[in-house]
Order: sequence, then C-alpha cells, then structure tokens
Amino acid sequence: MKAVVRANFDDSVTAYDAYEQRTGRFTALAELLAAELSARVDGPFESVLDAGAGTGASTRVFAERAQRTVALDISREMLRELEAAPRVQADFDHVPFVDGSFDGVAFTASLFLGPEPTVATREAARVLRPGGVVGAVAPLGWVDADGTDVFADLERESRSPTGADAVKTALADEFTVTTGTWRFATTAADVRRFHAIPAMAARLYPKLAAEERVATARDLLGGLEGTVEQRWRWIVGVVD
Ligand SMILES: C[S@@+](CC[C@H](N)C(=O)[O-])C[C@H]1O[C@@H](n2cnc3c(N)ncnc32)[C@H](O)[C@@H]1O
Repeated sequence: MKAVVRANFDDSVTAYDAYEQRTGRFTALAELLAAELSARVDGPFESVLDAGAGTGASTRVFAERAQRTVALDISREMLRELEAAPRVQADFDHVPFVDGSFDGVAFTASLFLGPEPTVATREAARVLRPGGVVGAVAPLGWVDADGTDVFADLERESRSPTGADAVKTALADEFTVTTGTWRFATTAADVRRFHAIPAMAARLYPKLAAEERVATARDLLGGLEGTVEQRWRWIVGVVD
C-alpha cells in the first residue's frame, strides 16, 4: 500500500502545487497546527520534524518558527520541489533519527495516508524530547450548507482507508491529546482542483490508473456548484 501511496504522490507534484498556489489550503492547515503546537511548548521550537512534508508548504511554515526543520517524505518527487530545508526520503513509520532528536513532530495532512497510524505515532514519541509535542491533521470530508456529505450520493469506489478517528486514537495511545475541527469554505471549482491531484483522486478511484482516475473524478464532480465546507480534524499531543 505504501508503494502505491508513494507512486500516487510521485505523479502529483504539478497538480498539487497548482492547487496549493490557488488555495493556500495546506499552508493554512500548517499555520493553524503550528499555532496549536507552539501554545504547548515553553519558548520557541529548536527543531521540528515535518513528517509527510510533500512539496514543502508545511515545511516553510515550520521553518519560520524553528531553528531547524527537517522535511521527511516517502515521495522522492514531492520532496524534490523543496530546496530550503534538509530533506530526507523516508517512511514516517521508520524515522531515521535517534531517540529524542526533535521538540516537535508535525503530520500536516499525512498520517491518515498510511494503513496503520499507530506505527508512526510510536516513532513520533521515540524521536521527541521530554516536553515535546506532536500534531496531526486528518480530513473529515466535504459537506454542503445543511451539513450533508457532498459525496454521499456520488458514485465512487472508496473512502479514506484510515479515518480521522483512527488517527486520533493512535495519538491518544502515546500522548495526552487535545482535538478540534477546522472548517474552510471551498468553491466547487476548488473541490474539482483538489481531485485533479492524482493522489487525491486515488481516494475516490483507487483501482484506476492516474489519468483515468482524474478524468473520472472530473466527470463525477462536474455538476457540483456553489460553495461547500471542507472539514479537517486536528489533534495535538504532548509527551506524558
Ligand atoms: C497531502 S500531502 C501533504 C504535504 C505537506 N505536509 C503539505 O502540507 O503540503 C501528504 C504527504 O505525505 C506523504 N506520505 C504519505 N505516506 C507517507 C509515509 N508513510 N511516510 C512519509 N511520507 C508519507 C506523501 O508522499 C505526501 O507528500
């Protein structure tokens, strides 16, 4: 499964950056997460591991707040876009750093992509120093004005394999956690742009090849109009 996730993101660099330039959504999520993490540490961060750094939207946010930010991602192509921070191509289930290396570990829209979030959360606990903090953001989906799931009646093959609840449970096993929801008004056109990213369309049509899945998602969402709400669960944990 991880090889598939890596391949999907390797295919996604251009569409991902186009979506981010247009919406700034991942930067906004990282800024909100960074504020929650900062509120729980004494003083500024010395070092942050950006776990699932992608093309660097979240890395840039953390690099403004920490003396040292390390970008880690399983996708070589996503990471290739990032020039400023130290980069490591690795799986966040096997973090190649010694115990107690970081003050913060951030999973901005990444931890839910794996089959089993408990492995990565154990790794986060291992590489954090005493007093360290961890944060994760996981999707809760898209709803219309009366709270109905926009995808409920649409034909697709799958939902997320790992839901926001599983991410929260995994973090709560290792840390004392606080959680909440962030909501973003999103135009129908931006929902389509989001699903023009092959890795995101894969969450609707996992069995189709990249081009076909993006085309199928475009057809599926062609009739969507107006504004919907995208919801994200955030979870922040402190070392017990
Ligand atoms: C939705 S992107 C978010 C990227 C970035 N944090 C941002 O805010 O733009 C998710 C990233 O997680 C990475 N990822 C998924 N599974 C991973 C794993 N097991 N180990 C490391 N990175 C992973 C993907 O390659 C992808 O770049």
